Amino acid sequence: MRKNSVFTSGSSCLADGLVTSAAPTLLQHRREFQTALLGWFEHAQRPLPWRTRPSAYRTVISEFMLQQTQVKTVLPYFARWMEAFPDFATLAAAPEDAVLKQWEGLGYYSRARNLHRLAKAVASLPSLPQTTEAWLDLPGVGPYTAAAVTSIAFGTPAACVDGNVVRILARLTADDREFRDSASAAKAFAPLAQAILSPDNPGSHNQAMMELGATVCFRQKPMCLTCPVRPWCAGARTGNPEQFPRLAAKKFEELTVHRVWLIRREQLLLHRAPPDAKRFANMYELPTVEMLGLKPGQFTEKPPLLKKKRGITRYRITELVHALPATTTLPTHPELCWVPLVNVEKISLSGPHRRWVTELLKMPSA
Ligand code: ADE
Repeated sequence: MRKNSVFTSGSSCLADGLVTSAAPTLLQHRREFQTALLGWFEHAQRPLPWRTRPSAYRTVISEFMLQQTQVKTVLPYFARWMEAFPDFATLAAAPEDAVLKQWEGLGYYSRARNLHRLAKAVASLPSLPQTTEAWLDLPGVGPYTAAAVTSIAFGTPAACVDGNVVRILARLTADDREFRDSASAAKAFAPLAQAILSPDNPGSHNQAMMELGATVCFRQKPMCLTCPVRPWCAGARTGNPEQFPRLAAKKFEELTVHRVWLIRREQLLLHRAPPDAKRFANMYELPTVEMLGLKPGQFTEKPPLLKKKRGITRYRITELVHALPATTTLPTHPELCWVPLVNVEKISLSGPHRRWVTELLKMPSA
């Protein structure tokens, strides 16, 4: 299936009038802008392991891990991953359980599964594809990752546009349009990102934009005084760059999930998602009360053992874990399983469930 294409043509794609009045000025000065940005990146960049020892494989792994996850969280995972799976061939040959285990705690597990599928796909090719179009056909690769991988690993002139880049571009051009969500903002800014991309060094340019977003052009309190591209920033000139970009307020939905904590004969009752599950395939979680044929209303007498709040996409979730007596009768449910307590460390639990299980196992009352 063809995914959204990335922009690899020149500045002509700006003709659709998507850009604001400050964009032509930035375009006019794009050479000076690129020189300032790249000069700054050369000395200011953080020595990240996928930069200090670059390779196409390390670029792919880092870009997958960095989707929705911050650099400081990714660093220890990246180091362990490289020890376990140093190249595409090793990753392709690894069992899925081992891949998921290495990913445990990073969240969004479809990334790990896609990475595994991608490794299997490229391991059978004579060489790695180098065009953004070819990368877009690989599992888990969207426009951002295709542009990041091909520009960084092969010097392909494709601009990356994520939330950081949107923020920088909206500020540079003082663009005060309101966007429905970050995806539509990214789409709107893609032509401008492409038009100002350094044709000589697109990989460093893309990384410099990411670095600027992560270390200077903060969402709140951007450090305009030390910003290398301030001379071209219409947002900084307004005196209130934080007002850009304008994104419509998110609508949240409140949800409560009731789960059970049940230990019998040194075994913990868990739910294992089936191999074809959309999310969490083959991974373990604490079962919900509904999986045991029970109703949340049955748990109002005693306070829960654990109460946690978390957010997933547009949901604000309250998770309650209730203790059940060891003698509870269980329905037959193909996805419920008893895991010996000594094996709980070894299985793949999603990040929050790992933390809750660890916390519960330390509770004297549990
Ligand atoms: N975010 C996404 N890709 C990145 C990279 N290569 N370096 C730092 N942050 C990133």
